[in-house]
Amino acid sequence: MSEQLSQDHLIRLGKEFGTPLYVYHAEKIKEQYAKLTSAFKNSNTLFFYACKALTNINILKYVCSLGANVDCSSINEARLALHAGFPPERILYTSNGIGFDEIEEAVSLGIIINVDSLSNLEKFGQKYGHTYPVGIRLRPNIMAGGNLKISTGHDKSKFGIPVDQADKVLALVERYDLNIADLHIHTGSEIKDVDVFVKGIEILFDLIPKFSDLKFIDLGGGFKVPYKDGDSETDIQLLAQKVNEAFANHPNPGGRPLQVWFEPGKFLVSECGYFITKVNVIKETDAATFVSVDSGFNHLIRPMFYDAYHRIENISNPDGAPKRYSVVGNICETDTFAWDRTINEVREGDYLVFYNAGAYGFEMSSNFNSRYKPAEVLVKDGQAHLIRRRDVFQDLLRNQIDL
Ligand code: LLP
Repeated sequence: MSEQLSQDHLIRLGKEFGTPLYVYHAEKIKEQYAKLTSAFKNSNTLFFYACKALTNINILKYVCSLGANVDCSSINEARLALHAGFPPERILYTSNGIGFDEIEEAVSLGIIINVDSLSNLEKFGQKYGHTYPVGIRLRPNIMAGGNLKISTGHDKSKFGIPVDQADKVLALVERYDLNIADLHIHTGSEIKDVDVFVKGIEILFDLIPKFSDLKFIDLGGGFKVPYKDGDSETDIQLLAQKVNEAFANHPNPGGRPLQVWFEPGKFLVSECGYFITKVNVIKETDAATFVSVDSGFNHLIRPMFYDAYHRIENISNPDGAPKRYSVVGNICETDTFAWDRTINEVREGDYLVFYNAGAYGFEMSSNFNSRYKPAEVLVKDGQAHLIRRRDVFQDLLRNQIDL
């Protein structure tokens, strides 16, 4: 049975902790992680949670307790992961466009590093030579992902070293005797078609024989989750089968078996998250009936930024007659969460919940309009724990210097 929090439970939490409120359900994360590990149980595969999706330290601790590793996109995420108890050897830092000082810090922390530019690879070679293993983030020139903003592997993307520059990588490896431990690609987010991963592997197979120290192939993240009714997630069983087949057909010429890594973010934490808001105002107009909730794109930016769809339910009037509404926020910008959406009759004071809000929800929130960031609650073993207090006025002044 799929782990889900009931509407009644969500209302109780909204009342107890106030709104707007992010709620995460630990057991759902566990369920998603188990899907990955059981599908790949007969393969030499590791999963690194792409924690840019949600970095609350209690989520990090929970993911760590499940046995997953962690993938970071900044040195501060790596520091948070260490703080949460991940040992350095379970922390991967897949960098992009960073200064060499962050790479030096990553080395001093003893974590695994994927470098994504020839420039930093050269500096790495000059400073560390063969002494510290390093991974290379390649751009496979594959177009994949739910929309262009979240596609990262295509031939106009800033991410990674283009595969067509592999000869330059090899020249640096030769010059500095680099110890290349892994080759990494990440093509995008919300990839349903598992053949995209197979295509990525095939591109890497041409390069594998050229790296004699290679131990790992890192295929990145990007598994799709169901946002809309009727949507399905990436078929992880099929992915495991196809990845295994691809490796069986291309044994590493060096003879050593290569371990495969994935970096799922959304797949692990999207569905565990619920964003609870309260209705401030209902406004009838010729164009639409607007429902303004006590939030905006300052708290959940995905609809405005990616045209993302989040299922919305009126949890305080689940039997109300269905009507069509445009759900908007209260900030001083157009912040439409949903246009012309059918929802059970909405009244001022009702609680609306946004589903699939765990990944890139709170994490991409801001204090725009000098509004407070929401509180976060973790439900684990049936108990609700406050894991981040709602901002207070002092938080808006913190770091400001009053001349
Ligand atoms: N690995 C790397 C190197 C990445 O850049 C990302 C995501 C992931 C793994 C995890 O991807 P996931 O499994 O979560 O799809 N904010 C956007 C998604 C941007 C993803 C950026 N990179 C959204 O809300 O849709």
